[in-house]
Amino acid sequence: MTDTAREALARAADAARLAPSIHNTQPWRWVVHADRLELFAVPDRQLREQDPDGRLMRLSCGAALHHARVALAAEGWLHDVERPAGEPLAVIRVERHEPADPRAMQRFQLLHVRHTDRRTVSDEPVPQGVRQALVDAARQGGARLHVLHRDEVLQLAVMIEHAGAAQQGDERMSTETAQWVGGDRPAGTGLPDAVIPAELPLTTVAERDFGVSGTLAAGAGHDTAASYAVLYGDGDEALDWLRAGEALSAVWLAATEHGATVLPLSSPVELVFTRQALRRMLSDTGYPYLVLRLGIADADHAGPPHTPRLPAEQVIELADE
Ligand SMILES: Cc1cc2nc3c(=O)[nH]c(=O)nc-3n(C[C@H](O)[C@H](O)[C@H](O)COP(=O)(O)O)c2cc1C
Repeated sequence: MTDTAREALARAADAARLAPSIHNTQPWRWVVHADRLELFAVPDRQLREQDPDGRLMRLSCGAALHHARVALAAEGWLHDVERPAGEPLAVIRVERHEPADPRAMQRFQLLHVRHTDRRTVSDEPVPQGVRQALVDAARQGGARLHVLHRDEVLQLAVMIEHAGAAQQGDERMSTETAQWVGGDRPAGTGLPDAVIPAELPLTTVAERDFGVSGTLAAGAGHDTAASYAVLYGDGDEALDWLRAGEALSAVWLAATEHGATVLPLSSPVELVFTRQALRRMLSDTGYPYLVLRLGIADADHAGPPHTPRLPAEQVIELADE
């Protein structure tokens, strides 16, 4: 059993490479043991300027953790997760093997389909039933999702504009962003030109301006039919950010399953003043972790390609035992 468990854990770490991460930094590392998988953050791939507290790094690691769990479940491995206060960030321990549930296998397929979509959304709103499914997925994933009302969307638009102006005026932040964005990205990290809009769409809530023009045809649409949501929760500590990342992955896979697109907008949580404004918008009921734009893709335009990933040997270590 041990050898097959170890192989399943290695496959789960491999599947977790597909997880979303801030600027595609993939700030995670896995150590595979005979009965457990350990997840570590990689501070070398933390954005020091944009993410000095490591909240987005941990959110990204949380998404990878959830991906690994989805992969294990798809093979029928029952497992337990421990989230120690320090390092490793998490330990997944396999308990026993059962016949896999077909729903879990379908979920695993979604890992390969999920991606960030920076094209404008279609005129079709995200159906209420789908929005509710995402709210439920966030809760099951360990956080909450608040879908914004129209007046809150306008407040969000102002916050994002302020955050964007503050960040673009900060030379160190712009230099940091430029290291991760644009070009072909042969090293397997960052955002290639192909996923960055050639021109920033004129939407009410602005997309992140990465400071470079890519080659993605973003479409002529608007964001009138988009829904905006805040992923939030009860605490604002390292462990809460990890849990938020797990919830993000759960929400995103549910959106993918229902044909909805997701674009995370993290600039308003990167700065203290906009983070506080978001918190007030949640009527102080929790701490904001990430803003998400949800939409239905415009079927007339080809979707963006998948972003690159680091090779497995750079993020997965097989422990000698
Ligand atoms: C915590 C987090 C924050 C992100 N913030 C943004 C953002 O502000 N703007 C954006 O265009 N994409 C954002 N993204 C999307 C990432 O750039 C994307 O996940 C990464 O490039 C990998 O691409 P993929 O999601 O298509 O696999 C964010 C992703 C995560 C996990």
